[in-house]
Amino acid sequence: MELTFYGHSCFYLQKKDTGVLIDPWLRQNPVVKEFPAKLKPSLILVSHGHGDHLGDAVEIAKGANCPILSTPEVIYHCGKGGAKTMPGHYGGTVRFDFGQVKFVPAWHSSSVTVGEDRVYAGNPCGFVIKFYGLTFYHAGDTCLFLDMKLIGDRNNLDYAFLPVGGLFTMDPEDALEAVKLLHAKTVIPMHYNTWDRIAQKVEDFQAAVQKQKVGKCQLMKPGETIQIEDR
Ligand code: NI
Ligand code: MN
Repeated sequence: MELTFYGHSCFYLQKKDTGVLIDPWLRQNPVVKEFPAKLKPSLILVSHGHGDHLGDAVEIAKGANCPILSTPEVIYHCGKGGAKTMPGHYGGTVRFDFGQVKFVPAWHSSSVTVGEDRVYAGNPCGFVIKFYGLTFYHAGDTCLFLDMKLIGDRNNLDYAFLPVGGLFTMDPEDALEAVKLLHAKTVIPMHYNTWDRIAQKVEDFQAAVQKQKVGKCQLMKPGETIQIEDR
């Protein structure tokens, strides 16, 4: 299978004709060089309504005729925009041919922009995704929280996508604690260096993670695709 990092918090998992796109903020994303017009996901996950996560989900969902899976408040907004939607929330697991998606908490906020207004959009979430035998945790936007231990203990995580930019989410120091709680085989940092306000020397974080010997830390450049071995 392939894993693509589009930048910020946007990842794409793909195997043959099946693709799961997470937090697709692309058109306005300063680190995205070109909008991937050929992208035809079979499912889009949105962690919360903030523009840098909901992004272009509605447009892509309509183009690919695929559903957006998110919290009731976020999909209400997406449905008004004409996208197909699927609801879920903390504790809920939705099953698919490729595996399953479970909603887990994230400590943050959520709103959507409607005209000039920001409208409250419920609670934000993270996802534990089983995709063809591999398990991925996308933390969404969150601070460090001790319940990550449950996520780590109850799932044999192959990959954890963790925000490290600080200011709105965990910074590298807190993300290092998250790494210990989650004990994923591979950690991929996200939500950094998109703007100056979340600039981080991510190589230092990578070195700190490697030193813990809980798993490796892989840095991905925006637009980079890696091949990963499925089970
Ligand atoms: Ni946010
Ligand atoms: Mn964000």
